[in-house]
Amino acid sequence: MNARTLIETQQLAIGTEVPEWRPFLEQISARFSAEHHGDYTVWAEAIGQLPEQLIALHPWRKGPWQFGDIHVDTEWRSDWKWQRVAPHLDLTGHRVLDVGSGNGYFGWRMLEAGARFVLGVDPTLLFCMQHLAATALLGPAPNHVIPARLEELPTGPRFDTVLSMGVLYHRKDPVDHLSRLVRLAEKQVLIETLIVESEHSLRPEGRYARMRNVPVVPTVADTARWMTEAGLKDVQCVDITRTTTDEQRGTEWMRFESLREALDPTDEHRTIEGHPAPVRAVLLGQVERPGRRG
Ligand SMILES: C[S@@+](CC[C@H](N)C(=O)[O-])C[C@H]1O[C@@H](n2cnc3c(N)ncnc32)[C@H](O)[C@@H]1O
Repeated sequence: MNARTLIETQQLAIGTEVPEWRPFLEQISARFSAEHHGDYTVWAEAIGQLPEQLIALHPWRKGPWQFGDIHVDTEWRSDWKWQRVAPHLDLTGHRVLDVGSGNGYFGWRMLEAGARFVLGVDPTLLFCMQHLAATALLGPAPNHVIPARLEELPTGPRFDTVLSMGVLYHRKDPVDHLSRLVRLAEKQVLIETLIVESEHSLRPEGRYARMRNVPVVPTVADTARWMTEAGLKDVQCVDITRTTTDEQRGTEWMRFESLREALDPTDEHRTIEGHPAPVRAVLLGQVERPGRRG
């Protein structure tokens, strides 16, 4: 399958569903190019030689995937995260925006759960290319991933449900992040984030679990308060789960270091920097707009 054809088909499909975004889509389509990312040509060629060249799209972080008889055992058991999220979301007939979607894994699960259309946005071009590879192998579906950041999306509520999973703790201004999500949502916003189970949110001086860009690991209470400040109602925490080295680990499809190397080898409840080890929470809030039909 030709990568350019997949990109153009995706572009058309998103433009049909969200016509107001056509100029924006036009602008970001240029990011599928060697000018934007030096590895683009290698990835595009790999998509032309699937499934043999799937490994050329390494590292595969989110999944797992079953492509015919090929099992892509990704770094994350994202299916476990989905099991924690899915019971709390009614997506029937929804248009969904998944911010920080990675390779679009959750989009496929959301279509299975009744969503009508899922748009993932993620600035990491490799993950967008992995999504194209999955589409080439699984067949066309109303699940798309474009190389964009939340902060550059055209404003206005155009999605019933907006999700942000694994992004909040990377943001310097969490309320700004949440406010942007709320502005794009008609009905509900779901947040999945690292949390600390202590009195105060953690603001790591240096790294957190080897990650450089973690300005804050919030408490559930702070996350809920920020969601309310951002304009959400009825905010509820629906799940808290410690991340294990069974859920996040190195595999042949993700050969870099993973959670085990980020934990204190003598105490798995601490990160290598001495912080509390990763625990994640799922919170859901409702959007209330004056005059919104039920
Ligand atoms: C930890 S991953 C989470 C992926 C997936 N949502 C999950 O929960 O498994 C965070 C993702 O957010 C993306 N990201 C980072 N900054 C972003 C931004 N400003 N807007 C949208 N996505 C962003 C990254 O490229 C990365 O793929």
